[in-house]
Amino acid sequence: MTTIVFASSKGGAGKTTAAVVLTGELARLGASKNIKVTLIDADPNQHSAEWALKDGCPANIVLKSSDEDTLLDDIEQAQEQSGFVVVDLEGTANISVTHAIHCADLVVLPCQGSHYDAKEVVKTIKLIRSQSKIARRNIPFSILMTRTNPAIQPRGLKDILSKFDQAGFDIFKCSLIEREAFRAIISFGGIVNDLDKKQVSGIEKAAQNAFAYAHEVINKIKGYNQDEEKRSAKHG
Ligand SMILES: Nc1ncnc2c1ncn2[C@@H]1O[C@H](COP(=O)(O)OP(=O)(O)O)[C@@H](O)[C@H]1O
Ligand SMILES: [Mg+2]
Repeated sequence: MTTIVFASSKGGAGKTTAAVVLTGELARLGASKNIKVTLIDADPNQHSAEWALKDGCPANIVLKSSDEDTLLDDIEQAQEQSGFVVVDLEGTANISVTHAIHCADLVVLPCQGSHYDAKEVVKTIKLIRSQSKIARRNIPFSILMTRTNPAIQPRGLKDILSKFDQAGFDIFKCSLIEREAFRAIISFGGIVNDLDKKQVSGIEKAAQNAFAYAHEVINKIKGYNQDEEKRSAKHG
């Protein structure tokens, strides 16, 4: 039902990692309630599909690989079958990106703390805003800082955050911290909670980070839906 799209016009921003961590955590949290999560990989490189095909992928994850001809239908079908639909996109602006944004309940914009990354985020926000006009609805988006250092916030990052804030852009309170555990699940499959403590460091902290991040996604979407209901009630 709920569709979360990962977009950025730049490769290497952290889309696949952020999409995979969210998919895994939503599946873990939803398993006891039989909630399915569909992961749609619309990137020809198929990095998130590779993860989902590895051993250890939660059983309630459904994988779909899509291209620009199939993406809209695949999202629509997945919305009927699953509680959550997560779409991972290629790092370029193409038709798939436009289609996915059109269907999104939330667009997550992963961003590493460099000036160049920030410029790419602004480009993608322009695209979301023009899509919102075409769709005649507000398409919510939020910036997720990725590969952050838990101990220090460099000056460049502070500067970027304050510029985003001044521009009125929504930013996640949490970030996706640079962790070996997040790299490990991409390489070996599964979710952070199931990694072997003897082989990978910082598993507990990565698991806490994944939990906080998934909760923030869910709460943001709830908030936007409530705002939307209030708006429709007001305008009849
Ligand atoms: N939170 C993180 N912790 C550690 N490594 C990360 C994290 N996020 C991204 N990376 C690494 O950064 C690189 C690019 O990330 P990726 O998710 O593939 O970006 P994209 O899908 O936007 O191209 C990969 O090597 C990935 O392992
Ligand atoms: Mg990717």
